[in-house]
Amino acid sequence: MIGIRRRFADQFILAIVVLLLWHYCSPWTIVVQKRVDLSDTRSNPTVANELAAAVGSPDTPQETEQMKEDIEQKLGDSEETFLKLVGRPSSPPRLSRDDAIRLIYDSNGGDDWLDLVESQDDHGLMALTKIVQRYIYEKQHPSDCGSQRYLVLNKFPGDDAFGLGAIVQRISDYLSVAIQTNSVLLYATDTSPGEHFISEDGTGSCRRSLDCIFEALSNCTSEAQQGLNSKTQSIFAGRKLDLDVEAFLAKHKYPIPFVFEEALKKVQPDITGEMLKYWWRAQAAAYIMRFNRNASRRLKQLRLGEDTKQLGIQWDVNGDPKEVNVPFPIPEGTISMHVRHGDKGSEMRLVPFNDYVVRAEKFSAENPLGYWKRAFLSTEDPNVIEQMRTMARITPFSYSGSNSRWTWYWTDIPRLNTGPETQLKEFGNRTDLTIKWMLQLVMAIECDVFVGTRGSGWNRLIDSLRCIWLASCKQPFLEVGFENDWIGYGP
Ligand SMILES: *[C@@H]1O[C@H](CO)[C@@H](O)[C@H](O)[C@H]1NC(C)=O
Ligand SMILES: *[C@@H]1O[C@H](CO)[C@@H](O)[C@H](O)[C@H]1NC(C)=O
Ligand SMILES: *[C@@H]1O[C@H](CO)[C@@H](O)[C@H](O)[C@H]1NC(C)=O
Repeated sequence: MIGIRRRFADQFILAIVVLLLWHYCSPWTIVVQKRVDLSDTRSNPTVANELAAAVGSPDTPQETEQMKEDIEQKLGDSEETFLKLVGRPSSPPRLSRDDAIRLIYDSNGGDDWLDLVESQDDHGLMALTKIVQRYIYEKQHPSDCGSQRYLVLNKFPGDDAFGLGAIVQRISDYLSVAIQTNSVLLYATDTSPGEHFISEDGTGSCRRSLDCIFEALSNCTSEAQQGLNSKTQSIFAGRKLDLDVEAFLAKHKYPIPFVFEEALKKVQPDITGEMLKYWWRAQAAAYIMRFNRNASRRLKQLRLGEDTKQLGIQWDVNGDPKEVNVPFPIPEGTISMHVRHGDKGSEMRLVPFNDYVVRAEKFSAENPLGYWKRAFLSTEDPNVIEQMRTMARITPFSYSGSNSRWTWYWTDIPRLNTGPETQLKEFGNRTDLTIKWMLQLVMAIECDVFVGTRGSGWNRLIDSLRCIWLASCKQPFLEVGFENDWIGYGP
């Protein structure tokens, strides 16, 4: 009797031990935890600590505690006027596809970007794009700078390790706060967000800020842009405001301006929270990343093959590969493939290049009248370029769509299969390398079909900009990762 009870107790303890081991060591637990970390960097202790260290400036503890963490959500006159514009009939496009692409390279900054957006077919753009881009522009370009409130944004702690997509995403959060608090968003000038993308010799009026590549956020300036303490993430200047911006952002995961949320709900009442976030980050990115005149000029030089090589391979009727030029703009029906490798393996599953090609071949076989087996390839992985050069097709001829073999286009930019900072250190002029990456982004959106994975910030940028700068939002995006990768990404 005692023997049986002993054996039962032993088995019970063994079962508990096995369960505990399973709980802590099971690959499922690890995967689930990893995705949670990814979807919310605020749960990532290092980032959270850095932010806390940067935000909790030690000399003003009481003041921080007393500051409000919320913005009163009410609609003023300008918001009501804006909401009346929702649902107006669309206007016909004034620019052809090719002319719209050319305008990106010929832009003189400022109004040209509004003109680009407003000249396109509403039906090809993301919902509300025209009125939202104009609203942001007008908020950031007031007629009188003297009476404004400013929100000045300093460099993010540890942002040297971030890609451009992540930096722009964070700036979007502050742009949202600025719009909701009736403030104009400006960058600090001593240490500016994303300064590691700009060459160290930064003289000129833009110092070492994103203004060296993109249009300034505003045509106003403020003295508060200078002399910001490195521990201060952001401050209000001009008219003061009792709001702890960092506490507000930590509390609200989807800081879309209230007025835009109201407007989108007029279009689609059951719009999801994730969609509100994705939509806003796309609108904000398209505004923040309007190239300035200098950057557009440089982009065009590079696009036309000056200081860089635009390369193409096409197979002739005998199946022999020959070199061809890359047309400008990229011809209709071309497929963009952005293969994200580099340092991303630490954060997401890397998809092999073959999977991209198989996916695109299936699409081209299903849609032979509209699309060719012709692709522009962008990647930071030189091995992918090598693989592509010899890849004529994967699936057999009989299933392979409108033409036999792939035509490949690519740009001969410096590539290293690593993260952005290593490449920026390695290849000299940071500003120029960043512009070369921008060129890859613009050439990708010159295309009509997009193969990629939205688990990568760069692919989300391609997905966003094609929907705002060009009327390509209803063109197919073929996901080679997980379908819902655009949901729950951080920060
Ligand atoms: C800023 O731009 C707006 C719109 O173009 C214009 O009305 C305003 O006068 C400009 N302000 C300054 C200070 O140049
Ligand atoms: C654009 O280039 C000119 C001439 O090189 C320079 O003087 C100016 O500061 C540049 N502007 C910006 C915003 O970088
Ligand atoms: C770095 O690149 C930028 C953009 O192309 C250019 O304006 C600048 O002159 C370059 N700086 C150096 C030191 O070559």
